[in-house]
Amino acid sequence: MEKILLASRNPGKAAEFRALFAPFGAAILSLADFPGAPSPEETGASFEENAVIKAEAAQRFAGILSLADDSGLAVEALGGAPGVRSARFAGAGADDAANNRLLLEKLAGLPPERRRASFVCVLALASPAGRLRIFRGETHGRILSWPRGTGGFGYDPLFLSDDLGLTFAEAGSGAKGRVSHRGRAFAALAAELPACVGKAERL
Ligand code: IMP
Repeated sequence: MEKILLASRNPGKAAEFRALFAPFGAAILSLADFPGAPSPEETGASFEENAVIKAEAAQRFAGILSLADDSGLAVEALGGAPGVRSARFAGAGADDAANNRLLLEKLAGLPPERRRASFVCVLALASPAGRLRIFRGETHGRILSWPRGTGGFGYDPLFLSDDLGLTFAEAGSGAKGRVSHRGRAFAALAAELPACVGKAERL
């Protein structure tokens, strides 16, 4: 069975990818299985750059096919911010509440049509032969002026999905997953998996 290293220490993420890869006969390892693995700084200016930094660092360390993801929120009126800084928008170590508060402050007074936003998820797959494949998923909506819903995480309570007519915090995880940036990036990757799994040397 081909082993693929997920460049993350998050057990929730590893479980999601394990389920995605199971039908293709690939076993997902994570950085938790490689105690000495480096945690590279995410210094990229784009989701693509950061996903590649993480996938290549994992690949170099372990020498096997490695996968990394990077995601965040891009708000049109803020020129694409918070973007790659989504997790630390309100400062290093900021929690979701602080990030959401800052987002509402920055958009205060803007009408609905000026509150357009997208979530973006990029997956990078790095092969031992030095090749890279990139998969991108996006989902569109707008930022409300107040939170709605109790599910999800991050900016979900403020993000009104065009597809669902609900915030991602109001939608169940099934509905969110069908239209989300992560769901769409997963789907793009899944469509290519038969060509990737077991053929790492040719990627
Ligand atoms: P990462 O991909 O785990 O680094 O996530 C980056 C940050 O983007 C998270 O900490 C959240 O603030 C935000 N983010 C990414 N995906 C979502 C989502 O599905 N809902 C809400 N916030 C998200």
